[in-house]
Amino acid sequence: VILSPQHPLSSGLTSDSRLVRAYRGERSDTTPVWFMRQAGRSLPEYRDLRVGTRMLDACLDPAMASEITLQPVRRHKVDAGIFFSDIVVPLKLVGVDVEIQPGRGPVFSKGYADAAAVAELTAIDPAHLDETSAPITEAVQRTIAELNTTATGEGRATPLIGFAGAPFTLAAYLTEGGPSKDHLAARALMHADPGAWRALMEWTAELTGRFLRTQVLAGASAAQLFDSWAGALSLADYEAHVAPASARALSFVHDLEYEVVGGRVGAPAPYRDPANGLDTLAALATRPTGTTRAVPVVHFGVGTGELLAAMGGIGVDTVGVDYRVPLDVASARVGAGVPLQGNLDPALLAAPWPVLEAAVREVLRRGAVAPAHVFNLGHGVPPETDPTVLTRVVELVHEAGAP
Ligand code: CP3
Repeated sequence: VILSPQHPLSSGLTSDSRLVRAYRGERSDTTPVWFMRQAGRSLPEYRDLRVGTRMLDACLDPAMASEITLQPVRRHKVDAGIFFSDIVVPLKLVGVDVEIQPGRGPVFSKGYADAAAVAELTAIDPAHLDETSAPITEAVQRTIAELNTTATGEGRATPLIGFAGAPFTLAAYLTEGGPSKDHLAARALMHADPGAWRALMEWTAELTGRFLRTQVLAGASAAQLFDSWAGALSLADYEAHVAPASARALSFVHDLEYEVVGGRVGAPAPYRDPANGLDTLAALATRPTGTTRAVPVVHFGVGTGELLAAMGGIGVDTVGVDYRVPLDVASARVGAGVPLQGNLDPALLAAPWPVLEAAVREVLRRGAVAPAHVFNLGHGVPPETDPTVLTRVVELVHEAGAP
C-alpha cells in the first residue's frame, strides 16, 4: 500500500528530516533527539490542560491529544513529536474495561490469565478497531497539520512518531489485570497453556498492529513498538513465545510504503543546499519516481541487554536501547549496520549540569559507532524533571553536530 501523496513522507516534508534519515541509517548535520514521555507531567502546560480529565479521556479527545503531543515540540524543539496516547488505548476502543490510575498505570476490571478469560478477549474481532479509531485518526491529522508548518528553509518539517505496545507488554498487563513487578502471570501462562498464550498473543498482535497502522495512515512518519517489559524474559522464551507475535504486529505497517513525488504538497520556498549547491526542491522533484521505501520502525524495551539482537531480528530499522548497555556495546550485539536510539539514564536529568553534560557527550560518543543515532533517554522522562533541563539537553545535542 502506497501512502497518499499528502502524507508528510510522500510529500517530502519529513522524508529527509534528521529523524527519518537516522532511522534509515543516514547521518545529518547533527544528531536528532526526542524523549520518551516528552509529553506529560514534566510540563506545567500539560498539568494545566489535564485538570479534570482522566488519562484515557484525554487520549480520545482529538483536540486535547493533539495539543499535548505538540507541547514538547514547541517547547524543546525536539526532532520529533510522539503521539500522545497509551498502549492500552486500542483495548479501550474495542470495549475492554480498562482505566489508567495515576501513579500506577493501566488497570483492568479482571485478569485474563487462563484459557476461558483469553477466550473472552479473542471473541472480540480486532478489526472492530477500524470502526472505532476515528478519534485517533483525527488527533494525528490535527497534529501533523501543525507539525507541517514547522518546515525549515530546507523544507523539512518535524515528523510525528506513532507507537503501539508490543503483544507481550500488553499481555503482561492483561494477564495480571494491572501493573506488576515481574510479570509472573504472563510468564506462567506461556508455559502452563501455550495454546491460550498463542491465542492471546495473536489477538493482541492484530489489535495493536491495527492501532499502529491507523496512526501511520493518518500521517505519522515512523512507528515505534514498545516492548517495555520484554526484559523480564529469557532469550529462549522471547524467541519462542513472543518475537513471532511482535513480528505479526509490525506486519500491519511493513506493507505501508511512501514514494517521494516531484513537486511537493505545501512545500516552502526553494532552498539551496550548501553541501551540493542543489536546490533541494528541485533535487526532490528529479528523484527517480517509482522509488518506494517502507515507513521506518523502531523497537524498544527496558532491561533488554540479552535480547537486543533478537529484538533487532524481527525486522525493524532501528533498535532502542535502555540505559544499562552502552551504545557501542549494544551496536556490537545488534550488528554494525543497525541504527540505534537512546540511551541517557533518566536519573542523570536530576544531576548538576556539568555531570549531565558529560553524560550526554558520552552517549553521543558511544553512539557514533552506529551508522546513525537518535538521541533519547534509556526510558521515559521522570514526571518531576525540570523541563528547562530537557530543553538544554536538546540544545547541547544539536550544537554537538555530527560525530
Ligand atoms: O511522550 C510520550 O512518550 C507519548 C505518550 C505515551 C504515554 N504512554 C502517555 C502516558 C507513550 C508512548 C506511552 C506508552 C506506554 N504506556 C508504555 C510504553 C512506554 C514505557 O513507558 O515503557 C507503557 C508501559 C504504558 C502504560 C502506562 N501508562 C504506565 C506505566 C503509565 C504511568 C502511570 C503513572 O501515572 O505513573 C501510564 C500512564 C501514562 N501514559 C501517562 C502518560 C503521559 C501518565 C498519565 C498522567 O499524566 O496522568
